[in-house]
Amino acid sequence: MPYFDHSATTPIHPEVLNIITDVSKNIYGNPSSVYASGRKAKAIIEEARKNIAIAIDASPSDIIFTGGGSEANNIVLWDLIHREKKHVVTSAIEHPAILTVLKKLEPMGITYTVLPVNPQGRIDPEQLNKSIQSDTGLISIMMANNEVGTIQPINELIEIAQNHEIPFHSDTVQTLGKIPLSVREFSADYMSFSAHKFYGPKGVGFLYKKEGSPLNPLIIGGGQERKLRAGTENVPGIAGMGKAVLLASQNQSQHMKHLEALETSFIALLNRECPIAIINGSPTHHLPGVISVSFPGNKSDILLAKLDRIGMEVSSGSACGSGSVKPSPVLEAMGIPESQNISTLRFSFGRDNTQEDVTALVMALNQFTNE
Ligand SMILES: Cc1ncc(COP(=O)(O)O)c(C=O)c1O
Repeated sequence: MPYFDHSATTPIHPEVLNIITDVSKNIYGNPSSVYASGRKAKAIIEEARKNIAIAIDASPSDIIFTGGGSEANNIVLWDLIHREKKHVVTSAIEHPAILTVLKKLEPMGITYTVLPVNPQGRIDPEQLNKSIQSDTGLISIMMANNEVGTIQPINELIEIAQNHEIPFHSDTVQTLGKIPLSVREFSADYMSFSAHKFYGPKGVGFLYKKEGSPLNPLIIGGGQERKLRAGTENVPGIAGMGKAVLLASQNQSQHMKHLEALETSFIALLNRECPIAIINGSPTHHLPGVISVSFPGNKSDILLAKLDRIGMEVSSGSACGSGSVKPSPVLEAMGIPESQNISTLRFSFGRDNTQEDVTALVMALNQFTNE
């Protein structure tokens, strides 16, 4: 059954599943316990931490395990309540785990500036420069967008933050395994990751924190994760994530080529079979295999349901509530007219997709947009 929604989540890799099963069956100790079974569990999570650190060129002590990408984002943003400088700069196309959190933080004295994006979903670094205030305590800008795949000029943005000595956080949840990722290259202070986006388990992720960058815990209790995230660790999940990161970094260039090949043929076929289709986002700066397409005159919820009926799973950026389709805020921020916005689907390819799947998808789109 062709699944084309890998930006929402990915099917677990069989080797990852083996490790999770094995650890769940055999490693029962609490990693904080000092006796043998506890030490075994501790060794498992430290091995995962080491592999994750190697994959992004960080040190193991820079990795904080979390319950996913949303939590990693929350830890960084909630830290603002402890800081003297309480102004944040972010972008209009961030995930709700950034924008909704900032709204929640407003009554606690946090202020923020939301940078606009151009029609391709990119931020102008000059706008970031201009938005910095004397009380700016954090810049939080995602590396790649989950709906349209646009990649930001992240190095330029980080350089501006560094020139002003402002900590920089990037929601990098969509990137691992799809583009090269090294903290030597992207010198952000914090980066958020989520295992289920790279063929790992759901409900587990990690936050990279550069040594010396400030951070307080959001979840308080025991002294786990060097007192930065309390709670008994999800040992099988962390072990699985360690394996998923290892596989993602080993296969990254091959995976990228696979996704690019699928994307190229998808776009070529779409242009031929479905000339009404409009591709959104940046043709040059985008994640391989993530394509946002508008089908003017065809409501996204209807198209999505028709594809679902034949076993093809895709997503729409627009939220569907009380019978009406609400436009996607990301596409809105890119200046896409409402009629086009509510006719948009996101296709995100993955490791199991084939050229045959892509051909079948375009044929189905051709049929459903002509009915
Ligand atoms: C860009 C981005 N940030 C954060 C998240 C949230 O991650 P999680 O599902 O692990 O909480 C997602 C997931 O959809 C995402 O795409």
